[in-house]
Amino acid sequence: MRLPILFSLLFAACTGTKGDSGQPNDSSPTDSETGGGGFDTSHDGTCSTGSEWTQGNHGSSKMNPGQACIECHDRGEGPNYKIAGTIMGAIHDPDDCNGISGVTVRITDADGNLTELTTNSAGNFYSNDRISTPYTVQLEYNGITRDMAGAQTDGDCSTCHTQDGKSSAPGRAVVPY
Ligand code: HEC
Ligand code: HEC
Repeated sequence: MRLPILFSLLFAACTGTKGDSGQPNDSSPTDSETGGGGFDTSHDGTCSTGSEWTQGNHGSSKMNPGQACIECHDRGEGPNYKIAGTIMGAIHDPDDCNGISGVTVRITDADGNLTELTTNSAGNFYSNDRISTPYTVQLEYNGITRDMAGAQTDGDCSTCHTQDGKSSAPGRAVVPY
């Protein structure tokens, strides 16, 4: 139980909130590998949440967290989505790491229409609502928000938010803290 206590303290120190629920990290690497924000930003191949998807391409709302949902589904098998992705616990979590549940994902499209989604227990979210592009993103968790500064046209978040990040993304889309 040492790490959850540590992370609660860091959480409180960084944000002034209690940090009493949904802490994403219970099997993280050592303190010296953690980044300035308090959560693991290391790159050692483990999942910050300590749990992962192990069922391959078995169809499920919790499948393949961190992978590009739409890119694969558009090859013909999975359902059609306009927006889909995963909110993870740490910026360099590998593919298939379960992310953080209960994060609000707000997509505001080019016409000002708001689509509000909540991540499931894998950290995944998805919608087939029409989204006119470019759209913007805001995340909210425990009252803390985080915005993607730039607007985007591709609704498949994990094409950019890979483990290392592509197209200038810093890595994963992570829970606000
Ligand atoms: C590498 C390919 C691949 C990726 C990546 C992928 N899926 Fe799928 N998905 C599939 C296939 C194939 C099916 C249909 C499987 C079936 O019918 O059994 C499916 C089906 C689904 C279903 C329907 C499940 C059901 O009960 O009918 C959901 C929901 C789903 N995927 C969500 C996601 C989400 C969310 C992501 C991204 C985080 C994702 N998938 C990533 C291949 C993928
Ligand atoms: C075409 C690439 C691309 C796509 C697609 C994309 N992003 Fe991003 N995202 C970026 C880049 C680049 C940044 C860093 C600069 C910025 O904030 O705009 C970023 C930053 C973010 C941030 C802020 C990160 C931080 O730590 O401050 C969040 C949150 C985020 N994205 C969520 C999403 C979500 C959710 C989706 C899908 C609905 C998405 N992004 C789709 C490229 C992308």
